[in-house]
Amino acid sequence: MELCQQISVLRQKITAAKSDGKQVGLVPTMGYLHAGHQSLIQQARLDCDLVVVSIFVNPIQFGPNEDYATYPRDLERDSQMAYAAGADLIFAPPVADMYPKPNLAHVEVDLMGNCLCGRSRQGHFRGVATVVSKLFNIAQPHKAYFGKKDAQQLAIIKRMVEDLNFPIHIVAIPIAREQDGLAMSSRNIYLSPAQRAQAPVLHQALVKAQEMFTLGERSSIQIIAAMKQMIGYQSLADIDYIEIVDTETLQPVEILDNSSLLALAVRFGKTRLIDNITLGED
Ligand code: PAF
Repeated sequence: MELCQQISVLRQKITAAKSDGKQVGLVPTMGYLHAGHQSLIQQARLDCDLVVVSIFVNPIQFGPNEDYATYPRDLERDSQMAYAAGADLIFAPPVADMYPKPNLAHVEVDLMGNCLCGRSRQGHFRGVATVVSKLFNIAQPHKAYFGKKDAQQLAIIKRMVEDLNFPIHIVAIPIAREQDGLAMSSRNIYLSPAQRAQAPVLHQALVKAQEMFTLGERSSIQIIAAMKQMIGYQSLADIDYIEIVDTETLQPVEILDNSSLLALAVRFGKTRLIDNITLGED
């Protein structure tokens, strides 16, 4: 597996692969890979001839009081994990190459970026959409792979691809979970043992919601109230939001229909965890 840090070198390699008729898959990440990232890479390996994993902790998607400086970074470990999952190439550009000048052009995602996590992370999704569009323009993959855990990010990227006519197929990969149900995340390492012990309540509350839906409950208010009560029993959990929204537009849904996104964010101390489920998915 190769490590490539220069945009021009990556472009040459991808152009050569494409002129040989190869399918190129891109897995954008911020590194500190876990089994969830590996499942994205494994799917890309099945679908594509050249699998590129980008590792870039993107400064413009972090707010001033967020963890940009301390976000876990370990390129050696990431390279081994990416290789084990089937990657051909790691693209890990320096910040100065991705942002040689202060960025003036951004991708705004309006309504979809200001709701859910966007409410407490102003500018986050503008930063995500901007860097993902840069990565798409740099790598020009046929397919790009994103995890369903970041459901808002996934919906925004799908919409961005549609709105801006990127000729890229977005592949969504199911959430990878620990044995106790906690969704895998690079930020789980921030949890203290006591917080880690309580964190599976997020998944338990989603399972409870799924059960209520299966039994015929269609009121968002009722489902959310039951979840709030359940999570509220955990002394270290501080709910940021629990919402049921349209899977495509992310706008609130009061009475559930065929397929709605139930998303939540809960803080444990300084660590904010997210999780979700799609109710009514086939
Ligand atoms: O999900 C992530 O790791 C990041 O938000 C992404 C998509 C790589 C953009 O920086």
